Amino acid sequence: MENFTFYSPTCFVFGKDTESRAGGLVKRFGGTKALIHYGGGSALRSGLIGRVTASLEKEGVPYVLLGGVKPNPRSGLVYEGIGLCRREKIDFILAVGGGSVIDSAKAIAAGTVYDGDFWDFYSGKPIENALPVGTVLTIAAAGSEGSPDSVITKEEGMFKRGASGDAIRPRFSILNPALTQTLPPYQTAAGITDIMAHLYERYLTNTKEVEVTDRLIEALLLTMIHEGPRVIANPNNYDARANIMWAGMMAHNNSCGVGRSQDWNSHNIEHELSALYDCAHGAGLAVTMPAVFAYVMEHDVMRFAQAAVRVWGCQMDFAHPENTARAGIEALRSFLTSIGMPRNFAELGAREEDIPALVEALCRGDGRQGSISGFVTLNEEDCANIYRMMV
Ligand code: NZQ
Ligand code: ZN
Repeated sequence: MENFTFYSPTCFVFGKDTESRAGGLVKRFGGTKALIHYGGGSALRSGLIGRVTASLEKEGVPYVLLGGVKPNPRSGLVYEGIGLCRREKIDFILAVGGGSVIDSAKAIAAGTVYDGDFWDFYSGKPIENALPVGTVLTIAAAGSEGSPDSVITKEEGMFKRGASGDAIRPRFSILNPALTQTLPPYQTAAGITDIMAHLYERYLTNTKEVEVTDRLIEALLLTMIHEGPRVIANPNNYDARANIMWAGMMAHNNSCGVGRSQDWNSHNIEHELSALYDCAHGAGLAVTMPAVFAYVMEHDVMRFAQAAVRVWGCQMDFAHPENTARAGIEALRSFLTSIGMPRNFAELGAREEDIPALVEALCRGDGRQGSISGFVTLNEEDCANIYRMMV
């Protein structure tokens, strides 16, 4: 196991009706005037924004509203939010929504206290200062409620890039599983897929002797395999929603990723798909992961075979472990299809003729030098091969 520092100071408030505590929590974490940031309308329609604003009013915390965050959040609204926060002297940002809203809130939080262009943080500069951020989560998926990360799409060139820093870890996150009951089944399934991807991206490591994190990841994957179909069959199953919501947080606050190298090539390859086609990130991952895993499997057959046996219940073929490894990847693919995720480019709305442009953006865009690194380093030819496997 490698040396590590694990710092995860977010206060999680979990359970039914917990959104009524938003105002008290903003105050507790130092907010005297808040920006309430939300998405395309689901939080308004469900009455959630009304309940959150009532809670701030009860605590005497003034606020300004900024809605309109799109899935795969854009830089344009971030610039607007930064201007608004400066004009209104906002000192706390409350994100009410999913990963897209939270990531946009984090970008505004970092950009408001920075003299340069906030995009610097999405081109590699670490985030050291930001306004405090709190969240009320409405979808179990991205894990942004407990992560130090934010992913934004720059409209000019449609580059989708991530930024990181402990300063943007939420001070608090309110997790009420009942809020996720209004999700369309496709979004629920995309969230499940993203959570599983966050686990797999950590499982694919080149670090030896990491039993504790291997076992944590396997437990969370098994939870998703158990709870995923239950929540797809019955969207109002509160307990299944609750287990998925907490698994989603644990999958991505890095408690399962400490002390080990991680992959993230599936995410990088997917990000170009959601940037170009505006597909759901999780749906893009459903198509991407099996292709990437099949492509890199030979790098460490036994790691894939281990997942196949421990997570998917495959029989170990000791003479030909590659058969076991392959069976595990197929089991993942079938599971994702069974919950309603796409299998290929056509089902995702992607086009074969765009592959050169996808590879260019992935390997050359925004300062990259012709490859992406992770479990295996992939050059432009590898990435083109992987995209072709998804057709
Ligand atoms: O905008 P509204 O109207 O709210 O609709 C949203 C959106 O259309 C809807 N939705 C959310 N909660 C709902 C709901 N509809 C009904 N009822 C509810 N309770 O769901 C749609 C998707 O929302 P979004 O926030 O985009 O989903 P998700 O949480 O999957 O976030 C995806 C974004 O997070 C990034 C992705 O790249 C993508 O841009 N990621 C962020 C990470 C991080 N910050 O750590 C890591 C992830 O790997 C990921 O890359
Ligand atoms: Zn993800």
